[in-house]
Order: sequence, then structure tokens, then C-alpha cells
Amino acid sequence: MSQTLQAVRGMNDILPDEAEIWETFEDIVRDWLKSYGYRPLRTPIVEPTPLFRRAIGEFTDIVEKEMYSFEDALNGEKLTLRPEGTAGCARAAIQHNLVASGGPQRLYYHGPVFRHERPQKGRYRQFHQIGAEALGFAGPDIDAELVIMCARLWERLGLADIRLELNSLGSAAERASHRAALVSYFEKHRERLDEDSLRRLRANPLRILDTKNPAMRELVEAAPKLADHLGDESRAHFEAVQGLLREAGIPFRVNHRLVRGLDYYNRTVIEWVTGRLGAQGTVCAGGRYDGLVEQLGGKPMPAAGFAMGVERVLALWRESGETEYTGSWTPDIYVAYLGERAQRLAFHAAETMRDTGLDVLLHCGGGSFKSQMKKADHSGAPLALVIGDDEAAAGEVSIKPLRGGGQRRVPLAALADAVVDMLYGEDAEDNDEDGGQGVSNGGI
Ligand code: HAM
Repeated sequence: MSQTLQAVRGMNDILPDEAEIWETFEDIVRDWLKSYGYRPLRTPIVEPTPLFRRAIGEFTDIVEKEMYSFEDALNGEKLTLRPEGTAGCARAAIQHNLVASGGPQRLYYHGPVFRHERPQKGRYRQFHQIGAEALGFAGPDIDAELVIMCARLWERLGLADIRLELNSLGSAAERASHRAALVSYFEKHRERLDEDSLRRLRANPLRILDTKNPAMRELVEAAPKLADHLGDESRAHFEAVQGLLREAGIPFRVNHRLVRGLDYYNRTVIEWVTGRLGAQGTVCAGGRYDGLVEQLGGKPMPAAGFAMGVERVLALWRESGETEYTGSWTPDIYVAYLGERAQRLAFHAAETMRDTGLDVLLHCGGGSFKSQMKKADHSGAPLALVIGDDEAAAGEVSIKPLRGGGQRRVPLAALADAVVDMLYGEDAEDNDEDGGQGVSNGGI
């Protein structure tokens, strides 16, 4: 027998029970994004490798170690599975001239991203991000709105224990002055740097602050702070963001060590962190990236955004015991039938009921009425539609309650109304609150 194949390590199947929770979450998130004026953007999962090298930065963990890159076997083009969504979003905005033709854009995306990290709880090689990007906005107002909208989502989901950390990375010139101070500081302590940090010392010393090596913690803590190199404009921008957040009643902590793992940021950077998920506690992160679009060949364009890790937010949602999803999908009615004539009527009856918005499971696979009724019971449906030769000949169907109550036999034309009536009572249609969309069992 051949060996069974498994999914790639760090890449997960999301099975129906779990995927239904995802869909509930996605519905909530889509409504939330729309309520802030964000519009969907779908970009390819594969992009040219230079896009990420230029956007994220050559000396970042992502570009140095974590990208799934390959050469197109047909034309040798260097390609990469996207490790994040911002670069592709900026590329698409430039390519399609979105901002020049349509003014500032609020965009969102949702989909899989890929990083070759060591898998552990909350850290995967294929994971999912929902990101929001505001392109063409320069002021602190959009930075604050991006934070406030996240806070509102956490509230909507009932998530507890998420802290907000903020920092300002200043402008390119301010970072250059900070960088010079960092190089001279780390040069003085060269013997205490690990191999990664030595390599980054000349190329990108800011990345040393990002080290996960505990042996270097003390050295990094005492390093020169970017805050001491910020000019008046950057300071005013950061103050304004903080003022708007205070006004909105959103608690935060300024963390001077927060530098983020991607090079495109300037000024405001944010991370939402929880202590409830173990080591992988950052559920959502982002910031301002005013230089990225120009760096990718577009006209200069201020921008800011964030992305949340869907697996982490969902883990926290589950952990908080607030998931609104109440169980797996169940049909409103299970259709059982016996005989050829009955089969034709069954297919027809099922579509008629679906037209009124009912969820219908049509029996497939034959078998006796007894075995079909067993399946009907297992499906969790409250009703079964039973069609035998007798009914088929008369153009009628029988509706049988599976959880108690009397059976009814009705002509096909009266079927949908009778089912709604048996499910929801006589008044169901009059009180229909979903604008005449029909009825449903509350499934998603
Ligand atoms: P990031 O911090 O690299 O930022 O990723 C955003 C979020 O993705 C993280 O906060 C985390 O929740 C989740 N995440 C990252 N790596 C993994 C992993 N291996 N497994 C599971 N979840 C993970 C960005 O990607 C930026 N593009 C965010 C952004 C948007 N900045 C501006 N706009």
C-alpha cells in the first residue's frame, strides 16, 4: 500500500467545524471594515521576488530566512509566495494608478501568507492575514482611526486582555541620525553581539533592536533611543495620534523598543499584544509607511495600515469563550424518497424549498426508507420530507416532524409555506424580518 501523504509542516487544514467559525468571523470582519469605508482588494498570492526584497528590506528575518521563493520553471522569473500583504497592495495601487485616479483609498485584503518560520502554537508557515491599508493619507487622524477601529473590533468580538503598544520611528533623516548613534554604540560593544547582529551592524543596525536573543537584552535596552532623535514634526505627529487615542478612551503604552520586523515603516508603529496565547502574543500590527510607494516606483504617497493574524485572533476569540457560532450546520429539512417517480418529485421539491431560503439536504445514495430516516435523524434536521410512490402519483408530499408532532400531507404547491409554518409557526412569514429573503435556521 502506498504511504499516505500529509499536509506540509506548518500548513493547516481547516476542517468544516472550524471553517464554519472562520466564516462567522469573516462575516463580522467584513461588516466592520465596510463600516469604516474600506473596500476589498484581491492581489495574487505569488509576486515577483524583488517586490518583497525592496519593500520589506534585504536584512530582515522575513527576506533573509523566511520567504518561499522559487524560479518559474518556464521562464526563470524569480517568484515568491507573499509573506505579507502590504507590498502587493502598494504594487497594485501603483500599477493601476488607484490613488491618482480615485483619490485616497481605504483598502482591505484577506488571505493566506507564507513564512518559513519554525512552527509552534500560534506560528505557522501558511497563516492568514486580514489587513487594512489607507493610501494617500498623511495626517495623524488616519493613524488614530486605524487603531480605534481595531479596538472596536476587539470589543465587538468580546476579546479580553489585548494591550496596545505604540512607537514612532520618525522620518528617514531622523532614523539616519539614530542609526549613526546605534552603529557607534554597538561598535563599542562589538564583543557582545551575536552573529546575526554583527552582520546587521553595518547594513541595518536598527534590526539589532529586533533581536530575539535573550543574551543581548541588556545591551539592546541600553542602546540609544530613536525618541531622542525625533524632530519637531515627527514629535507633533506622534503627540497628535496619542491625543486622539486618549480622546477615544483607548489605553496604550509607548514602547521605545518597538521597531517592527519590516523596513518600510516610518513614524507611527503599532502592535496589539495579548498574554493569553503564550509566546506568539502579537495578534495585530502595523503602522505608517510613507516611503514605500515611492520606493516601489510610484509617485510619493503617504500611507498607513495594519494586518491581524487570523489564527491568533480566532484562538483568542475561542479562549475568551465569546465565539457566537453555536454548532455545526444543520438542514431545515431532509428529503427522503423511494422510486423513480418519487425521485423526480424530490429533486423538484428540494429546489422549490431552497427558493424560499430553506436549507435542504436531499438524500443521495438510495437505500430503504428506514435507512434514509436514520440519516435524516442524524442530520439534525427538525423535519423530513417523505415521498413514496403513493405521494408521487398524487403530486403530493408528506412532511414528518423528527422531534415530535404530527405529520402533514400537502400538494407540492403548498410545500414551502407548510414547511415554514411547521418550523416557525403560522406567523413566521408575516413577521419575516429579513426583508422577505425567506427563512433560515440561523446557520451561516
Ligand atoms: P507582521 O507583524 O509581520 O506585519 O504580521 C502581522 C500579523 O500576522 C502579526 O501580528 C501576527 O498576528 C500574524 N503573524 C505573523 N507571522 C505569523 C505566523 N508565522 N503564524 C501566524 N501568524 C503570524 C505585517 O505583515 C504587515 N504587512 C502589517 C501591516 C499592514 N503594516 C502596514 N500595513
